[in-house]
Amino acid sequence: MQSIILPSLLAADFGQLTNEILRAENAGADAIHLDIMDGTFVPNISFGPAIVKLCKKTTKLPLNVHLMLSRPDLFIEPFANAGATTIQIHVESSCNIKQTLQHIRSLGVSPALVLNPLTPHTAVIPYLELVDEIMYMTVFPGYGGQKFKPEPLPEIRKLRDYANANGFDKLNIMVDGGVDRNTISQCAQAGANEFVAGTALFSQQDMAAEITLFRQLIEQK
Ligand code: DX5
Ligand code: ZN
Repeated sequence: MQSIILPSLLAADFGQLTNEILRAENAGADAIHLDIMDGTFVPNISFGPAIVKLCKKTTKLPLNVHLMLSRPDLFIEPFANAGATTIQIHVESSCNIKQTLQHIRSLGVSPALVLNPLTPHTAVIPYLELVDEIMYMTVFPGYGGQKFKPEPLPEIRKLRDYANANGFDKLNIMVDGGVDRNTISQCAQAGANEFVAGTALFSQQDMAAEITLFRQLIEQK
């Protein structure tokens, strides 16, 4: 299964955003992760479709759009039109999950579901046929730079085992929050193959070296 590294733009220097996007691309990132927060589903506000559009204009990398919104269903089209490759919605959000995932797919965008750290993996099992990717939060969403929470790791293992035993062996499992050189191996061991990292990558002078180290750690897991 292919390993994917996604720098989270939330940790970039917003004073020079296009340079930061290019820095991630030149460092060997596989995709860019974009955190969209509404101040209701999470206690913070970030940015909207205009920044996704800026990314689309700046890089050919896939754009992984993480909607931390109470009503993600109301914002699918603006993010699809802005150039999202994947749109991730939370299983805890207040909308019809099945219809929203189908709506995302109908627009030619890849649908994904996200679980908060304490949500059991069984919450996403009814939707596995509708998604290409499941993301487990390894912090409570809302802010970058938080400490990694290990609680989801056994749930990630159960989800990977369930997927393998039930014909979903191509399912991508992503982790998001507190992922760095000290925590990435545990995530890979648990069965994750896609890794979001904000602070741990954008804080590096040499992001390429850190991404190379991440890839080595994943391989050695
Ligand atoms: C948290 C966001 C994360 C965040 C990760 O709500 O979903 O994507 O940017 O940042 P780090 O890697 O700094 O924990
Ligand atoms: Zn995120």
